[in-house]
Amino acid sequence: MAIIDNMVSLKHLVTMETLTNEEVLGLIKRGIAFKKNEAHFTPERQYFAANLFFESSTRTHKSFEVAEKKLGLDVIEFDAKTSSVNKGETLYDTILTMSSLGIDICVIRHAKEDYYKELIGSRTIQTSIVNGGDGSGQHPSQCLLDLMTIYEEFGRFEQLKVAIVGDITHSRVAKSNMQILKRLGAELYFAGPEQWYSDEFDVYGKHVDLDEIVDEVDVMMMLRVQHERHDSDKVFSKETYHNRYGLTQERYNRLKPSAIIMHPAPVNRDVEIASQLVEAPKSRIATQMQNGVFVRMAILEAVLNGKA
Ligand code: CP
Repeated sequence: MAIIDNMVSLKHLVTMETLTNEEVLGLIKRGIAFKKNEAHFTPERQYFAANLFFESSTRTHKSFEVAEKKLGLDVIEFDAKTSSVNKGETLYDTILTMSSLGIDICVIRHAKEDYYKELIGSRTIQTSIVNGGDGSGQHPSQCLLDLMTIYEEFGRFEQLKVAIVGDITHSRVAKSNMQILKRLGAELYFAGPEQWYSDEFDVYGKHVDLDEIVDEVDVMMMLRVQHERHDSDKVFSKETYHNRYGLTQERYNRLKPSAIIMHPAPVNRDVEIASQLVEAPKSRIATQMQNGVFVRMAILEAVLNGKA
């Protein structure tokens, strides 16, 4: 992997762990340059990208598609519901097919954690894999758009106090973010239900009561309650969760003037965050979605650099 003037070169992007801090900053800065219209990409040849989403998505799927089209790639339609997956074809064989067809990049979201390992370990599969989310594992492009949003706001990560709040165990966003934010020098706090927290996260930060830190943090990152990954969705009533662990208007009023609130979305309104706060002055939720397109352009460009 090489970096020249923020230009990163990658074979695949499946997890944040494999990126150096320099590569992370390179991708963020390139995303910012695309946003400011200061960066341009001209494909050296015809490139094909396919977005294979085996789990539901609006933001990740559509922003990759916008990013691909802005970069001038040919986007090949793939709908899991009408594909040969319905005839029992495995993910491996589906990607082997994509590779054989000459698809350069496959963006994949799949419920199976670490699904990408057998794909990137294959000697036959030539297509580059970009992970659009693997079960409760990793969500590197969401992590990079979150980092871009924080960097645009503060210009640094060192000594920023970041609270990650909510359903941490089931959140691939939280797992990607905690690893890299700690490495970049942020001070991390976790809050939310004890049953959705694991001691394994203690190496990255401290689990506290939300009310202990609400007036100290620079970034308040709320997580979606992942009902689809719970055995029962009746653990908390909407009101109980919101009052105990959510960003209420009262907690919002206690935030520092410079603090921002984030949420990867989709938002369960009035659960993780009071509905009226989704577009409040401190909210960067719409900015996160906007930045998703530009940081995904940077990711795709880096993977195409890897091919060149
Ligand atoms: N944040 C996120 O991954 O949203 P989608 O599930 O809509 O892609």
